[in-house]
Amino acid sequence: MSARTPSAKGLPPAGQPVAGLFPDKATEVFLSRSVEETMAWGKTLGARISPPLAILLTGSLGTGKTTLVKGLTSGMGVEEQEEVNSPSYTLMNMYQGRFRIYHLDLYRLSSDRDLDNIGLFDLLEDGSGVVLIEWGELASPWISHGWRIHIDDLGKDERRLTLQFF
Ligand SMILES: Nc1ncnc2c1ncn2[C@@H]1O[C@H](COP(=O)(O)OP(=O)(O)OP(=O)(O)O)[C@@H](O)[C@H]1O
Ligand SMILES: [Mg+2]
Repeated sequence: MSARTPSAKGLPPAGQPVAGLFPDKATEVFLSRSVEETMAWGKTLGARISPPLAILLTGSLGTGKTTLVKGLTSGMGVEEQEEVNSPSYTLMNMYQGRFRIYHLDLYRLSSDRDLDNIGLFDLLEDGSGVVLIEWGELASPWISHGWRIHIDDLGKDERRLTLQFF
């Protein structure tokens, strides 16, 4: 395990909704009935995001984390959508939208040391980009605040997406 315990100093204060999104709420729930609805919700959110921000994406295998990332990155201004894919083998992809976006997939994380090796802690401290992390629960011990989006599979094409600020 890394001896460093970054406080993600580039990020805004804990518990504060970013950019005035849902100012009275700590949680936002969206019920999606299709891939398209998940992407559209992500796009709307993405359009209102600015760095610094870390988003932890959680939910079982194949629930729609990468699909949501495609929507989010589209809203953040990434035009080459075909490049937005799960970085399972490399652990991290980088895209250029209105700002830098780092897309991590920790499914194949073998040890916490990998998080340091791929530069996650430097990215959090730097704070000039947005960090999207699939299987985000694996990084949550090192991220003091940000957004968590959990996806539940409700059967067929229905998904419940729960956004929490922490
Ligand atoms: N409402 C929905 N929103 C998102 N995906 C949906 C929805 N309904 C069905 N799906 C399907 O669920 C799958 C989601 O795949 P995706 O790769 O986005 O999931 P993931 O959570 O990233 O998977 P992994 O755990 O392998 O990283 C796709 O096959 C997609 O077609
Ligand atoms: Mg995925």
